[in-house]
Amino acid sequence: MSNDPLLQPYTLKHLTLRNRIIVTSHEPAYPEDGMPKERYRAYTLERARGGVALTMTAGSAAVSKDSPPVFNNLLAYKDEIVPWIREMTDAVHEEGAAIMIQLTHLGRRTRWDKGDWLPVVAPSHHREASHRSFPKKMEDWDIERIIKDFADAAERMKAGGMDGVELEAYGHLIDQFNSPLTNELDGPYGGSLENRMRFCFDVFKAMRARVGDDFILGVRYTADECLPGGTGKADGIEISRRLRDSGLIDYLNVIRGHIDTDAGLTDVIPIQGMANSPHLDFAGEIRAATQFPTFHAAKIPDVATARHAIAAGKVDMVGMTRAHMTDPHIVRKIIEKREEDIRPCVGANYCLDRIYQGGMAFCIHNAATGREQTMPHTIAKADTRKKVVIVGAGPAGLEAARVAAERGHAVVVFEAANDPGGQIRLTAQSERRREMISIIDWRMSQCEKLGVTFYFNNWADADMIAAEGPDVVIIATGGLPHTEVLSKGNELVVSSWDIISGDVKPGTNVLIFDDAGDHAGLQAAEFIAKTGAKVEIMTPDRSFAPEVMAMNLVPYMRSLQKLDVTFTVTYRLQSAEKSGNQIIAHVGSDYGGVTKQRTIDQIVINHGTIPLDDLYFEMKPGSKNLGEVSYDQLISGVPQTAERNPAGTYQLFRIGDAVAARNTHAAIYDALRLAKDI
Ligand SMILES: Cc1cc2nc3c(=O)[nH]c(=O)nc-3n(C[C@H](O)[C@H](O)[C@H](O)COP(=O)(O)O)c2cc1C
Ligand code: SF4
Repeated sequence: MSNDPLLQPYTLKHLTLRNRIIVTSHEPAYPEDGMPKERYRAYTLERARGGVALTMTAGSAAVSKDSPPVFNNLLAYKDEIVPWIREMTDAVHEEGAAIMIQLTHLGRRTRWDKGDWLPVVAPSHHREASHRSFPKKMEDWDIERIIKDFADAAERMKAGGMDGVELEAYGHLIDQFNSPLTNELDGPYGGSLENRMRFCFDVFKAMRARVGDDFILGVRYTADECLPGGTGKADGIEISRRLRDSGLIDYLNVIRGHIDTDAGLTDVIPIQGMANSPHLDFAGEIRAATQFPTFHAAKIPDVATARHAIAAGKVDMVGMTRAHMTDPHIVRKIIEKREEDIRPCVGANYCLDRIYQGGMAFCIHNAATGREQTMPHTIAKADTRKKVVIVGAGPAGLEAARVAAERGHAVVVFEAANDPGGQIRLTAQSERRREMISIIDWRMSQCEKLGVTFYFNNWADADMIAAEGPDVVIIATGGLPHTEVLSKGNELVVSSWDIISGDVKPGTNVLIFDDAGDHAGLQAAEFIAKTGAKVEIMTPDRSFAPEVMAMNLVPYMRSLQKLDVTFTVTYRLQSAEKSGNQIIAHVGSDYGGVTKQRTIDQIVINHGTIPLDDLYFEMKPGSKNLGEVSYDQLISGVPQTAERNPAGTYQLFRIGDAVAARNTHAAIYDALRLAKDI
């Protein structure tokens, strides 16, 4: 038996967990009609197969109708959920993992214009900034109704074969009761700590009465809201002790912070550029103070830190949640002593930011996550070995190279630059986005192991490719910044990438025109403003940087608001002209009837990229398929068979931004779904 602290079993009441790594609750927004159907099951099962000890499925499954699914949560208040849960729990148990589910009432952390359009409820009228609802202050019958709803839902989950239920308290209704900031009820549920916690205990009592003792109950709660007037650390320790002493629950899952604002949420679930494991010591203090089973997750992305968390006795079970979205097979790789093969979570929070925009959670650099029914996490060998030539070593090209090499093909990659990475290499120059380079480094190390041949500093042409005698050519040459957006004065502008790469020196009074709304615009703004320059970010959109999304915006705002940066929405830069050593910018609006001017010394355009596709068109006449991709074959996951040119000698494809400007996830998905069937 291994002596790795992470691989030691753990006994939680009657349940033996096979190791110390858990996936904490997270709603990936995969439910269909509020039910965990095939997609959900396949996603959950992959992590069980990968070796995790306990998968805490669902995030915040709703127990009541007035807790509507604000990010497509499971509807635990419906009886029809039981058979769906049963299918999932049976499948997970067969893989040797335990499975629990998180139940919640969101309280004010939702919207009234979802689900059944019922008023949002909370123990006060205070609005939650993130979800914007003004709640109804709860009455006695609301309290009774919701306590019963929790008990009913817990019973359904037990009937569905779950090993236990965790209450999502933090930021949701239960902690809205516990916190003096959000509880303005009079006794018996408001006022003193004892009164405020009464709701939580009444919920646990009602659930325990229904599910009996042979069922795990736990709570994920904040033990320090980090807000003036809120639950502080001393209160948090007291709350933890009271939870333990209640005899109603089996473990504590510790959170530090508050989630009522984007900024607060980002401190609870830190993104790239923020410190790793920021709350681990705090969780350790709670464990020490309570001597009670303690779980915790918050940016513990690597095995070494997770091992430390267990070895140092900070926690009993360590959460590696996003890490498992990036690589569901972490435990298997630890057991097989292949830790270096673990695909690293880079903290991009593409997963989480998407669900807050109403999308499904996808991992920025694992396109199989959430698509387990169609996309493999482990690539199968091809029957016939082919020669695959790839041009471009950005994320798309490297993913195609990795997947084709896993298939057993002979793979050659040409790259014009000295180093791999493309746009990611530039992006990762910002200190805060440095972790992005792991997307490239991991693929390079996998490709090297698989024997892929790389030619850097090589501007591939048709002859060089022909000399390789390819069966398949994949063009992944990316794009070049697109700046020709003005009716006059295009020669006076530079691109956001010119600034990020350091090719162009920042001006002192700069207008950034950003209608791509992605990271490059804000990265350029930060780069320029940090030199002390004055920066105006202008967009014709209703909000700035919409593609950056909520949690990713937080570190930018924390930086940009301290600098000389202003934001102008709903205006469009139309043209520019020189005036001495200054530039006059002419500004209009899509709404019409407005003309304004700005006098500045630099204009930076962020308008995505235009495909670098010359080589593709050069290669097209010699190909069998003349570049055609059958979308039906692509989507149904079968090999491409288009034949348009009998004289052609190779199949030709292009992927990523060489087709059209999109994002890293799209580039990697293009590559995976094409190359897995070559
Ligand atoms: C897509 C997504 C959805 C999440 N939803 C929930 C949720 O509903 N309830 C919850 O307690 N935590 C939720 N979380 C937070 C995770 O459980 C975990 O605390 C967080 O990701 C930090 O741990 P990590 O750094 O190991 O990922 C979610 C996380 C992600 C990525
Ligand atoms: S999107 Fe980023 S944070 Fe989310 S799982 Fe993938 S790498 Fe990790």
